[in-house]
Amino acid sequence: MRVYLDNAATTPLDPEVVTAMTDVLSNYYGNPSAQHAIGRTAKGILEIARRNVAELINAKSSEIFFTSGGTEADNIVIRSAVTDLGIKNIITSPAEHHAVLYTAEAMHEKGLANLHLVKINNKGEIDLENLELLASTYPDSLISIMHANNEIGTLADLKAISQIAKKYHCIFHSDTVQTMGHYKIDVEELGVDFLVCSAHKFNGPKGTGFLYIKNIHKLKPMITGGGQEKNLRAGTENLHGIVGLAKALEISNKSIDEKQKYILKLKNLMKKLVEEKIQGAGFNGVTTDNGSLYTVLNISVPPNPIGEMLLFKLDIEGVCASGGSACSSGSNKGSHVLAAIGHPEDRTGLRFSFGKFTTEEDITFAVDKLQKILSE
Ligand SMILES: Cc1ncc(COP(=O)(O)O)c(C=O)c1O
Repeated sequence: MRVYLDNAATTPLDPEVVTAMTDVLSNYYGNPSAQHAIGRTAKGILEIARRNVAELINAKSSEIFFTSGGTEADNIVIRSAVTDLGIKNIITSPAEHHAVLYTAEAMHEKGLANLHLVKINNKGEIDLENLELLASTYPDSLISIMHANNEIGTLADLKAISQIAKKYHCIFHSDTVQTMGHYKIDVEELGVDFLVCSAHKFNGPKGTGFLYIKNIHKLKPMITGGGQEKNLRAGTENLHGIVGLAKALEISNKSIDEKQKYILKLKNLMKKLVEEKIQGAGFNGVTTDNGSLYTVLNISVPPNPIGEMLLFKLDIEGVCASGGSACSSGSNKGSHVLAAIGHPEDRTGLRFSFGKFTTEEDITFAVDKLQKILSE
């Protein structure tokens, strides 16, 4: 048996998404920029996908820009805010995904913007008073705060942050890669200037995402060439990926409440089993139903001789999980998120993340294997 509990890294494709994508791959090969009938048909499909995505997040079609995923979209926001919108100060958190953090650091290292890190507590929650202090000291900044942390699942109060941003004339970007498709997102209600999406986190295809840009902001292209995506991102569009993204978001949004209820039950089951069976274990980040992402549970395993080998042993036993963000797997550096919340170095952080195809059996299997490995 093999169980997949790494859905925050990526999710399996929904069969309906595969059907929608295969249809485009088989039947609609036109280049959306071409003037002839086959090109125009492709363009029509592209614009329908854009309109559908826009409606799902209460945006306008003209505010949706398709990208290769979350990393690219985060890069466009941060780099372009500095080069095109005159941003001199970036306020972000030490627990952001590297797509934000490394990009902001790059802007700082090049001398293009100053970087200010907001305080977070030991559960990864943003210190809103400190954020307000930074915003009032550096008005007209870019504030970039993720909606849910990809390693520990702690949620941020985006409405409260956007109010602070407005008060001090800051531009507000949120990395919503882990929440898009899992929560209803309404750009008007949240009051964001930018947000990003990555289709493969909610049963859509890899290599496809979008950037929402509030229409008052005009950015220049980072990749130049053709005039695609309203001149922001040159290159022939990944039409089948975009259709897959729109389909995946439509399916997710339709069943969001049931999905949340189902997955939250699995997460709480795992919490309970870990508390019962793994002596000395704790949880990283907020674990209340409302304060954390229902798809992520980060377990703090007490000091043990297996240490770094725990994930490897779980894998051998048939459990796919992750320690920290999968985006940085391959690097042997520890998790910057666990470091930022002060997680003791001699404990191991294990991230289990769930999706709509996860079952109760997967959860009990994983906890049994974890218990077995730790008792060996
Ligand atoms: C919070 C967050 N931002 C950005 C990304 C990068 O997204 P993508 O894989 O589409 O480049 C990830 C991927 O894990 C993520 O979790």
